[in-house]
Amino acid sequence: MDFTDQRLSYEKGVLDQQSVPDSPFELLNAWMSEAIEQNVQEPYAMSLATCGADNKPSVRIVLLREITDTGIVFYTNYESAKGQDIAENPNAEVLFFWHELERQIRISGSIAKIDANKSAAYFQKRPHDSQVGAWVSQPQSGEVANREVMEETFSQLQQEYPENLPVPTPEFWGGYEITIEEIEFWQGRANRMHDRIVYVQEDDSKANPSGWTTKRLLP
Ligand SMILES: Cc1cc2nc3c(=O)[nH]c(=O)nc-3n(C[C@H](O)[C@H](O)[C@H](O)COP(=O)(O)O)c2cc1C
Repeated sequence: MDFTDQRLSYEKGVLDQQSVPDSPFELLNAWMSEAIEQNVQEPYAMSLATCGADNKPSVRIVLLREITDTGIVFYTNYESAKGQDIAENPNAEVLFFWHELERQIRISGSIAKIDANKSAAYFQKRPHDSQVGAWVSQPQSGEVANREVMEETFSQLQQEYPENLPVPTPEFWGGYEITIEEIEFWQGRANRMHDRIVYVQEDDSKANPSGWTTKRLLP
C-alpha cells in the first residue's frame, strides 16, 4: 500500500510564544479542558515510551488519571513490561495526539511510584470487575496459554470477591507520576509550518520566577 498522496492541511489553531502562560501546567490544563469540551475521543489516552537496560524503547497507551502540581499520573501493574523498564530506567516520554484539535503534547521527565495509600484509594474507586481484572492480569505482560485460562481465573476471583465484598488492592498495582522536566505543545498549521513551543526548566529562578522558559522549535 502506498500512502504518499494522503495528506491533511492543519488549520484549526495557532500557538504564539508571546501569549503562552508562564507555567506549562496552566497551558496543559487549558488544552486538556478544551479537549474535553470539544469531545476529543479519549483525551486522556497517552502513548508512554519507556526504555529498560536493554536500550530498546517500547511504547503503549495508558490513561492519564491526574495532572498534579509537578507532573502527570497513570496507573498500571508494577510488574508489567513497562514496570520493569521503569525500574531499570526512570526516564520516560509521553505523547498525546488529539486529531480533532490538530494538537500534540509531548512530555519528558522521570517516573516514580506514587504513595501506596493514594494508589489504594484509586483502586478502590474503580468498578468492581476492573478490580478483579487487575488480579487476573498478574504479571501483566506475562504469557498466558489461552483466553479460557484468563476467563476461568476471572470467574474464580469473582466468586471469591462477590460484588458486596471489597477487592484487596494488589501490591503489584499502583500509580506512577512522571515529573515534568520538559513539555512541548504542538499546534498543526498549514504547509507544515507547525507551531512548536517547548517549556524547559529554568535554573535561575530569580530571572524567571515561574521556573520555566519557553522556546520555539522549527517544525
Ligand atoms: C485506550 C487504552 C487505555 C489503556 N490504559 C491503560 C492504563 O491506564 N494502564 C495500563 O496498565 N494499561 C493500559 N492500557 C493497556 C496498555 O496499552 C498495554 O497493553 C499494557 O499496559 C501492557 O503494556 P506493557 O506490556 O508495555 O507493560 C490501555 C490501552 C488502551 C488502548
